[in-house]
Amino acid sequence: MTTTSNAGVIAPEIIEGAEELSSVLEAARMRGATIGFIPTMGALHQGHTSLIGRARAECYHVVVSIFVNPTQFNSQNDFDKYPRDIDFDIETAFEAGADYIFVPSVQEMYPKDSASKVVVPNISSIFEGESRPGHFEGVATIVTKLFSIVGRCKAYFGEKDFQQLQLVRRLVADLHLPIEIIACPTVREEDGLALSSRNQRLSLDERYAAGILFHALTQGRILIEQGERSRQVIEAKMQEILSNEPMATLDYASVISADNFLQLDTLAGEVRLLIAANFGDVRLIDNIGVTVPMENQKGQQ
Ligand code: PAJ
Repeated sequence: MTTTSNAGVIAPEIIEGAEELSSVLEAARMRGATIGFIPTMGALHQGHTSLIGRARAECYHVVVSIFVNPTQFNSQNDFDKYPRDIDFDIETAFEAGADYIFVPSVQEMYPKDSASKVVVPNISSIFEGESRPGHFEGVATIVTKLFSIVGRCKAYFGEKDFQQLQLVRRLVADLHLPIEIIACPTVREEDGLALSSRNQRLSLDERYAAGILFHALTQGRILIEQGERSRQVIEAKMQEILSNEPMATLDYASVISADNFLQLDTLAGEVRLLIAANFGDVRLIDNIGVTVPMENQKGQQ
């Protein structure tokens, strides 16, 4: 298929070298081009393509990286099992609007003597970080490396991975990186299940049961909209809903303040409902945001 929508190109440029990508993008910026960047681990679905499409609409060049980052996996087995189909991913990224696709090797991103790591304390050790030790150190390190290579750009991240999004915002601010983070809404299946590469690993029964995650989040939101302001009451409601689904093993169902992840007893401002559960050996996460209205706050003085 040919298209001229991607900054006028008819095929994406596939780049394997970090230095090459840096110099191509630097030259483009010198010509006045803006850059949109979408880091991914491949196994692309409509969640990813929504980010690429948004960048296509807002930037002159769109760069997608496809790199299954070994340092963010908790087990070798999980890393090995991660779905990989590079031809499909390149085609999908291109059709969604990418004109540069960065496909580095592990050696390119982690040369033999590389030692530096990026640590974002606090946010890295709660929720996903508590259940997956080391995961966010791996994410922070690879994202920082990718940002260094790509340079000044808008970088698009999904709200689907809300804790990752907040961690990346923190590190960009802390390290004064010339990156503008753009948060994009979660793309869902018809029953509300958030699109995820892990969904492919669910059995039919598990896939059906997994709709409970969005259902629990939605019921939590409805309670808040009805005036409930107790964090514990909302968490208990979500936990109860999950406990009625025998295929689900709940890890957490929690309500936090969206900007700092604090678990306030009385909800106020922008809050986020977070949920994580296992279906068989597949761990799924999801979240939704709710703005708590200022007026009529039940339980407040
Ligand atoms: P990956 O899981 O491939 O996700 C890449 C981007 O797609 C992330 O910003 C993620 O939040 C977003 N995304 C995934 N599913 C989505 C959905 N259903 N709706 C909207 N956006 C969705 O996240 C990673 O890769 C890695 O940790 C990475 C940042 C690339 C670092 O290795």
